[in-house]
Amino acid sequence: MQNNELITVMGATGNTGSEITKRLLAAGHRVRALGRSRAKLAELAVAGAETVAGEATDPGFLTEAFRGSAAVYTLLPVDVTWQDYHAEVGVIGSAVVKAVRAAGVRHVVALSSLGAELPSGTGFLSSLHDQEQRWAALPGANVLLLRPGMFFESFHPALGMIEAEGVYGDSVAPDVSIPMIAARDISEVAARALAARDWSGIVVRELLGQRDLTYREVTSVLGAALGRTELPYVQFGYEAMTQALTEIGFSQNVASQHVAMTKAFNEGRVVSLGGRTAESSTPTTFEDFAGELVETSRRAT
Ligand SMILES: NC(=O)c1ccc[n+]([C@@H]2O[C@H](COP(=O)([O-])OP(=O)(O)OC[C@H]3O[C@@H](n4cnc5c(N)ncnc54)[C@H](OP(=O)(O)O)[C@@H]3O)[C@@H](O)[C@H]2O)c1
Repeated sequence: MQNNELITVMGATGNTGSEITKRLLAAGHRVRALGRSRAKLAELAVAGAETVAGEATDPGFLTEAFRGSAAVYTLLPVDVTWQDYHAEVGVIGSAVVKAVRAAGVRHVVALSSLGAELPSGTGFLSSLHDQEQRWAALPGANVLLLRPGMFFESFHPALGMIEAEGVYGDSVAPDVSIPMIAARDISEVAARALAARDWSGIVVRELLGQRDLTYREVTSVLGAALGRTELPYVQFGYEAMTQALTEIGFSQNVASQHVAMTKAFNEGRVVSLGGRTAESSTPTTFEDFAGELVETSRRAT
């Protein structure tokens, strides 16, 4: 292990970045944790990280934040209020690649997604395609592109809907099988790679979770964790889903990205290219996650 060399983590207050930071610190690495909010970063500072707050739209900020790092973890944040998702996230994606180049970082672990090989027709995911293209155009880049399935954490808002409506719903068809994964399992792979830096060139790694799940099954597992047997899953139409998302604060544009992504799932266009293997599978079950989600929410109320 090269414990004395600095590793920088973007999005360190988010689902994957926070776990990566904690894992690296626990293994004795020097970690610089990036986010926007000093208050949110404070917990990581206490845990031993150097923390730096700033805007990822700013390549100058990112260049200084990445400088001196043996490896960086990068992601594209999502803001549900953006008026033009691809344009806004593209500014950040370009800034990240520019900063990696300017700071002379040799190894990058970049969070992407299943479906990122498709240039369009996948909503949010086509921005990750564009980002993969930016990495491919970076001279001499050693970039590990992690392509996970859907995060279990996407179901954080589900309990609110179940509580309010007595059902769970989305515009995903009930019986489409989708690889789904816990952020902590992505983080484990990312943290190991950031520490080992044992690949060269552009490498794609799919992460498919413990098993594929359907939304019907997800709903049934959430129902069981809540003690609500027979909790129904309701498939919303695309227009109804867009409207429901705008009612909870999404811009029309970002709502339409979500719905386009669900359409791509329904049409079987977002799939694993390599198929499930021991290497692409990860341990955490959705049952484990659902139990923890319900327990955390009960503790909070
Ligand atoms: N959800 C899924 O199912 C799924 C599946 C595949 C891929 N992905 C991809 O995963 C990525 C999100 O990863 P995640 O869930 O680990 O992140 P996350 O939980 O959404 O957190 C985002 C992080 O980025 C920071 N951030 C947000 N806007 C920023 C800005 N303008 N400048 C600087 N920092 C900013 C946030 O800081 P603050 O604390 O200040 O907000 C936070 O630390 C997205 O690219 C998404 O497409 C998601």
